[in-house]
Amino acid sequence: MANDQEKEAAARASLRFVKDGQVVGLGTGSTAAYFIKLLGEEVKNGLRVRGIPTSVRTRELAMSLRIPLITLDDCQEIDVTVDGADEVDPQLRLIKGGGGALLREKIVASATRQMIVVADASKRVQRLGKFPLPVEVIRFAQALVAKRIAALGAEVQLRCDAAGNAYLTDENNYILDCRFGEIRDPDRLAQELSEMPGVVEHGLFIGMASVALFACGSEIVELKRQ
Ligand code: A5P
Repeated sequence: MANDQEKEAAARASLRFVKDGQVVGLGTGSTAAYFIKLLGEEVKNGLRVRGIPTSVRTRELAMSLRIPLITLDDCQEIDVTVDGADEVDPQLRLIKGGGGALLREKIVASATRQMIVVADASKRVQRLGKFPLPVEVIRFAQALVAKRIAALGAEVQLRCDAAGNAYLTDENNYILDCRFGEIRDPDRLAQELSEMPGVVEHGLFIGMASVALFACGSEIVELKRQ
């Protein structure tokens, strides 16, 4: 599939940002998985890095590839993180969390000097919001938070797994997928959501990504945050 080739191409282009000896944040999702597999090959060929995974499934993938892993307890400064995104706007503001890992992803991003976003061309948008914004909530508060987010103008849906049960994150919270349509002021919405009791974290990543690498067919487009 063209998208898969683009995801792999973007992941490959990010390898040059990873240097010997660095601590590397390992993102979650299908594009980040390509990066982790490629990083595994580099490690096999002698690259020395220590990875900090952003989810249980990323940890399992990295372990299967024998990438040395540490945790935030061992090191609180990450040199570079490579992660995917669901949408990226021209200011490198992101929607993340389609894969359900936004909380650990944001924590890792916040401790990272250089966050590299890797994506296929479909993720590049002028305005955020076509993709439903994932919001991680405390289970106790989910109905109340859903009502409050709906009052901001979104269509809100509790995320469920394939069996129809509420989806549980790695931190045992729920996710509300919130359809805002075009988000006119992402900075303001991010603040409003952060201030809502019961919201653990939301999928707007603002001021975090340094570089975005989009693969458009065989071409790589690199955007830097100004
Ligand atoms: C995981 O929680 C997400 O933030 C992913 O990074 C995002 O959904 C992109 O995933 P894909 O690379 O699979 O499209």
